[in-house]
Amino acid sequence: MASREVGIALLGVGIVGGAVARTITEQGDVIEARTGIRLVVRRALARSRERVVQAGLPPEVATTEIEEVVGDERVDVVVEAMGGEEPAATYLRRSLEAGKHVVTANKEALAKNFAELAAAARASGRALLFEASVGGGIPLMASLRQILADNRVTRIRGIVNGTTNYILTQMAERRTAYAEALREAQRLGYAEPDPTADVEGYDAAYKLAILASLAAGRHIRPEQVDRTGITGVTPEQVAEARARGGAIKLIAGAELDGEEWRLRVAPEFVPGDHLLAHVRLNFNAVEITGDRVGPVVLYGQGAGPLPTASAIVSDILDAARFGAALTPHIVPQMSRT
Ligand SMILES: NC(=O)c1ccc[n+]([C@@H]2O[C@H](COP(=O)([O-])OP(=O)(O)OC[C@H]3O[C@@H](n4cnc5c(N)ncnc54)[C@H](OP(=O)(O)O)[C@@H]3O)[C@@H](O)[C@H]2O)c1
Repeated sequence: MASREVGIALLGVGIVGGAVARTITEQGDVIEARTGIRLVVRRALARSRERVVQAGLPPEVATTEIEEVVGDERVDVVVEAMGGEEPAATYLRRSLEAGKHVVTANKEALAKNFAELAAAARASGRALLFEASVGGGIPLMASLRQILADNRVTRIRGIVNGTTNYILTQMAERRTAYAEALREAQRLGYAEPDPTADVEGYDAAYKLAILASLAAGRHIRPEQVDRTGITGVTPEQVAEARARGGAIKLIAGAELDGEEWRLRVAPEFVPGDHLLAHVRLNFNAVEITGDRVGPVVLYGQGAGPLPTASAIVSDILDAARFGAALTPHIVPQMSRT
């Protein structure tokens, strides 16, 4: 089989971007043998050349200028792993307008700009793929896409933040208080030095908004999620839940109520006879309910460099093979006024 080259640009070469670079280097031959596609990193946007070299990439691919990325004709797919809303969202839009396929791991930029980015992708006939933005290596988007082929999705419910699940697991199993469990999570690298986005439920709200937008086919914004974090969960509540055979979990839930979606992120008691009660440490699980298929549960590592890079590489290959065919239709939120 004759191979074809697919040029990649990385925006951000941190934990995830670096792992994508290493996966392409280490797995490139296997990927080529399986798919006939040779992945080649042509550009890597980073604040320092050092990061690019540390990721095993040649120094000449390093750039600090987005225009050098979008203006490079050898770049077919732009992979964004910078994080934060801006400048990431602008870079994603510029890449799509310049005719690049886009793959992103950035839940915040996507959740806040989903309709605009999907429209830009459709206008330019390019792929907008984001498997890594929710559930790391768990194939959630691919599963949702498959379920949505002939189902109406009526409910999504899950544990989508590994940091808070790690903390709640430690509180339950080691009988530690919240602050101590948080410190342990930070020491092990499961929690950021500033843990606000995780422990206050913002990260879970972004992820829920993305999943619900796909199910609804319209842009559901993170502000529409009724959000409570885990900072108020007490050791007593955790111990009581355990005594009842269940667990307190930070549950991200979206439910169709008539034509309205009800969206909530909050710590909840999960009875012991439900799968979600048994999701431990930094693992994630999401239950998707379709009106024909019934409930489907997906479980796995919701973060980490290798699982996340695996989802990104799969998206890159899908973008190269199927182009705009996999870009979702997300219409803007209708005004209520
Ligand atoms: N880590 C995970 O397990 C995981 C899993 C799923 C999804 N994600 C998502 O993936 C994205 C990246 O996460 P990460 O963990 O890889 O973060 P990270 O290690 O902090 O990497 C982000 C990289 O982007 C660079 N960057 C940020 N803004 C930039 C700018 N304006 N110009 C140039 N470079 C810029 C940073 O450069 P500096 O080093 O110079 O600051 C850093 O190297 C986030 O959206 C995150 O939510 C992460």
